[in-house]
Amino acid sequence: NKAQAEITYVTAERLVDPQKGTAIANAALIIEDGKITAVGTAAEIEKPAGAEHIDLGDKTALPGLIDMHTHITGDPTKGGGYASLVIPVERTIIWAVENARKTLMAGFTTIRNVGSDGYETLSIRDAINAGEIAGPRMFVSGPPVGIVGGHCSDNNLLPPSYEASGEGVATGPWEMRAKVRQNIKYGVDLIKTCSTGGVFSKGTLLGAPQGTVEELTAIVDEAHSRGLKVASHAHGTIGIKNAIRAGVDTVEHVSYLDDEAIRMAKKAGTYFSMDIYNTEYTLSEGEKNGVLPESLDKERQVGGIQRESFSKAVKAGAKVVFGTDAAIFPHGDNAKQFSRMVRFGMTPLQAIRASTSLAAKALGREGELGCVAVGCRADLIAVSGDPLSDISVLEEVAFVMKDGVVHKDD
Ligand code: ARG
Repeated sequence: NKAQAEITYVTAERLVDPQKGTAIANAALIIEDGKITAVGTAAEIEKPAGAEHIDLGDKTALPGLIDMHTHITGDPTKGGGYASLVIPVERTIIWAVENARKTLMAGFTTIRNVGSDGYETLSIRDAINAGEIAGPRMFVSGPPVGIVGGHCSDNNLLPPSYEASGEGVATGPWEMRAKVRQNIKYGVDLIKTCSTGGVFSKGTLLGAPQGTVEELTAIVDEAHSRGLKVASHAHGTIGIKNAIRAGVDTVEHVSYLDDEAIRMAKKAGTYFSMDIYNTEYTLSEGEKNGVLPESLDKERQVGGIQRESFSKAVKAGAKVVFGTDAAIFPHGDNAKQFSRMVRFGMTPLQAIRASTSLAAKALGREGELGCVAVGCRADLIAVSGDPLSDISVLEEVAFVMKDGVVHKDD
């Protein structure tokens, strides 16, 4: 962390404004106390006296990126399948320090961490906020709340005599509410639940719903009444619809979509977070990494369908945000998903919005994050080339500023 002069003046050949959907040529910004206080062309905005000048030259600047679905303590090369059983949670915190740094260096200045063993990710968030380690701003869920034997996040690997269970496992609306209250007590930013089985959990089915609408509604009611948003993991159509009916804010994965589910989401204002890159990593590296054969089978079933659903959702005008499930693939490779989002139906501008202005809206932080207007947090990245014509340039981020502090300047 390089300490910055109190006032910073940034110039760049191009600045993408996702909210306006345009780029400013020969742009200039003024940053004070971690916030943007002026933005426009360099002709309009002069360098304030005494300000430090950061000249990004011929690069394109844009707001720091947001990944709505990560697990910062996870590493795909360590602890796949049964190997996970011998990894203490403390060890994963050590990995998270490096994962957080890589994520920030890749241009992601904000992430949602939607699920961890316990409350360890809250300390990672707090250490980043205190400047003790480098990393993105984190919105963390703590332990996911879900049913016995479910994807969120029971331990189904061991035989009954071990009596293994996950932290957020509950039965019935009141127990679910109690888990939500406990998570809020310890300081989570959002609640994660699951309304279907998953790829990486043993003995769960992608198509089978998990939790009743009554249970899901209890989770959402409890979270919303305390001012927190809810993310629900759902692959199968029934579980996607149950989550939307219950009023969750974002549905994660969203693999098997039908027209009715899209209509319901549009009506309810539900966001879809669709992780359409990681399938490639799992299918090429998963076996070597110890992923369960059952999970590999499920990934083979779901990867292609999820991409078709993504195309359908985008075409129908559903709100699709950028979420990768980083941890399934190495942290720092998050931006690889952009080119897939464009290949499967988004314009480059839509893909950028999915990871900036639209993601900020889904977080309830519109006008603060994912934007470059006056009053926005000074989260700024820069790349060579023009992401509005070639989205893959976002895979090579040359400059990263978070809250007005420069973390990378190549
Ligand atoms: N965490 C998710 C699960 O286990 C990951 C799904 C990854 N696959 C995919 N095609 N998006 O279900």
